[in-house]
Amino acid sequence: MKKFMLFIPFLLMPVLLLIMTSCTEKAPTSSGSANVSREVKKGASIYEMKCLNCHGEKGQGGICPNLVDNEWKYGSTDNDIYKSIAEGRPGGMPNWDKVLGEEKIKSLIAYIRSLKAE
Ligand code: HEC
Repeated sequence: MKKFMLFIPFLLMPVLLLIMTSCTEKAPTSSGSANVSREVKKGASIYEMKCLNCHGEKGQGGICPNLVDNEWKYGSTDNDIYKSIAEGRPGGMPNWDKVLGEEKIKSLIAYIRSLKAE
């Protein structure tokens, strides 16, 4: 029994590490490309504040889906992605329509598309 108790922290460690690495990602270093559109820049700062913790610094995912691998569970059109962000998705994606509004969500889509282009 005592041996088992000693073992518990080791069982928890990977889980904790996973949470820590997915939620304490460093702020993205500003990308080098000079002609990033305004829209993309706006989207980037919103992404850093609202989405990075779950979806990773470059949209690469973590505990949440990758946004840059061209695989879309809920569809790849602007409309589909808009819906994912605005209305949320059942697997743990919050809805953002009330927090962000249409304009900001559109900037986010532009930003996500720009990530994929890299
Ligand atoms: C609390 C963690 C969390 C936050 C914060 C979050 N998401 Fe998500 N997101 C998820 C999860 C989990 C899913 C997968 C939902 C599912 O599979 O049903 C998801 C799914 C998505 C999808 C659909 C992906 C696909 O394959 O179709 C998009 C697009 C998306 N998120 C964008 C964003 C954007 C943009 C933000 C910032 C406004 C954001 N998410 C913030 C957890 C989060």
